[in-house]
Amino acid sequence: FEHVEGDLAKTLITEQELHDKLEELAREIEADYEGRDLLLVGVLRGAVMVMADLARALNRHIEMDWMAVSSYGSGTTSSGVVRILKDLDSDLTGRHVLIVEDIIDSGLTLSWLRGNLESRGAASVEICTMLRKPDALKVEVDVKYCGFDIPNEFVIGYGLDYAEQYRNMRGIGVLAPHVYSDKG
Ligand code: PRP
Ligand code: MN
Ligand code: MG
Repeated sequence: FEHVEGDLAKTLITEQELHDKLEELAREIEADYEGRDLLLVGVLRGAVMVMADLARALNRHIEMDWMAVSSYGSGTTSSGVVRILKDLDSDLTGRHVLIVEDIIDSGLTLSWLRGNLESRGAASVEICTMLRKPDALKVEVDVKYCGFDIPNEFVIGYGLDYAEQYRNMRGIGVLAPHVYSDKG
């Protein structure tokens, strides 16, 4: 990712490592949901890359739907305030729902979202996240499929943004401190 190299403190996970991990998770998901319908719910905007790649890694029928919620604003820390910006189009009654996320940071977004989706009558609600930061967790979240546990650093790429930028980086990197201290 040449155009952002100067903004990275380091590369954390390469495109290849992300790909390999998704193949692994896809095989587990195929086995676990055998004989059941599956609705993938992606959380906009960060989850778009994971959703696109996971959906294509799965050798089975799936449906996709999207929600947009927000907890961060444009800064680097979670506010704990979750707002629905765009709701699902699907009725969840009796559905097996797998929430697809890029990252669990404080856990506030997902613990709220899981409760919200369960209350709509889903047959099951599970979580698949590419990244998790165990040291940043403020609430316990039961995650069925997790790609990588990572240190508590500000990460960007593969859907993850800083001030809406860097989402299109193919791998995941740690943002260099000068980028956010420069902008205040
Ligand atoms: C980020 C990330 C997760 C959430 C995790 O989304 O994509 O959805 O924060 O944070 P938490 O575990 O502390 O709640 P963000 O709110 O930045 O929106 P975005 O996906 O549009 O970037
Ligand atoms: Mn998000
Ligand atoms: Mg964000």
